[in-house]
Amino acid sequence: MQTLTLTRPDDWHLHLRDGAALKAVLPHTARQFARAVVMPNLKPPVRSVADAAAYRERILAALPAGSQFEPLMTLYLTENTRPEEIVAAKASSFVKAVKYYPAGATTNSDLGVADLRRCDPIFETMERLDLPLLLHGEVTDGCVDIFDREKVFIEKYLIPLISKFPRLRVVLEHVTTADAVQFVLSAPATVAATITPQHLLFNRNALFQGGLRPHFYCLPVLKREEHRAALLQAATSGNPKFFLGTDSAPHPRGSKESACGCAGCYSALHALELYAEAFESADALDKLEGFASFHGPDFYRLPRNTEQITLNKTTWRIPEELPFPESGLAPLRAGEEITWQMA
Ligand code: NCD
Ligand code: ZN
Repeated sequence: MQTLTLTRPDDWHLHLRDGAALKAVLPHTARQFARAVVMPNLKPPVRSVADAAAYRERILAALPAGSQFEPLMTLYLTENTRPEEIVAAKASSFVKAVKYYPAGATTNSDLGVADLRRCDPIFETMERLDLPLLLHGEVTDGCVDIFDREKVFIEKYLIPLISKFPRLRVVLEHVTTADAVQFVLSAPATVAATITPQHLLFNRNALFQGGLRPHFYCLPVLKREEHRAALLQAATSGNPKFFLGTDSAPHPRGSKESACGCAGCYSALHALELYAEAFESADALDKLEGFASFHGPDFYRLPRNTEQITLNKTTWRIPEELPFPESGLAPLRAGEEITWQMA
């Protein structure tokens, strides 16, 4: 296949940051996607509808002239979030979900939740009002091996959560394991998952290829090949429970190439090309449009986009570095060739 025409996709999990960083990365996402679910892990996090409204205005102000891109906002769940905030979120037209971070799990998650069960009154309100819950599905218990944290989260927290709140719509974000795929497949239709390009294309060997490779480090961390294979199978299966969420998470080069490097892969520049490569490797390019453009809006109960985009089979080189505050930004697979290109 030499060209691929798709309904314009959306990104259902994205980090846009703020200020000069926002300005640097937003045009990449706005070029590829019509909408994106914007993660709330700013410093301080986006905890109220008022915070979300102000952040949304900053995003709109940073858009390139003429862009129709629509940010879909989320609130950051804390142990102090009140049911009234959920009611206000639902009443706003722009807050589409609430994001749970386990305290200390990842970038800017210090104010996250130490014990998910403490938020039951919030989940009750979200279930009643039908506001989706987005989960960073990892335990942070230092006794649990980092490669097992998703599986343990599912067993310890997620299975009890969905049996307690059977009508709550839940997205298990950036799934990384065969265990998560199995769980989502066996769960009711209220449970879905996003999958990143890096988890479809790479296994954990990429972290250590010839030396330590910080630009492949994200959370949840890359897993074994058998898990990557299960994710690729799920993404290309046509099952509407799985949809596109890049988790593109920019950090300045200096913060990644460090004795204690930050987690996050930057893929907003070339996300669709990366996904196309993954789907092509499974001989499933015909399943890309459902995954990228239909399953997400259907789950969120938003209209599908009507515009189209085209990808051409053309080889180009991913830049070594992109402009970004402090020390520049290395995109995923910087300096390497890629065989699809968005027109
Ligand atoms: C994200 C970030 O940098 O904000 N990093 C990442 O590795 N995915 C946070 C997150 O989603 O865990
Ligand atoms: Zn994320």
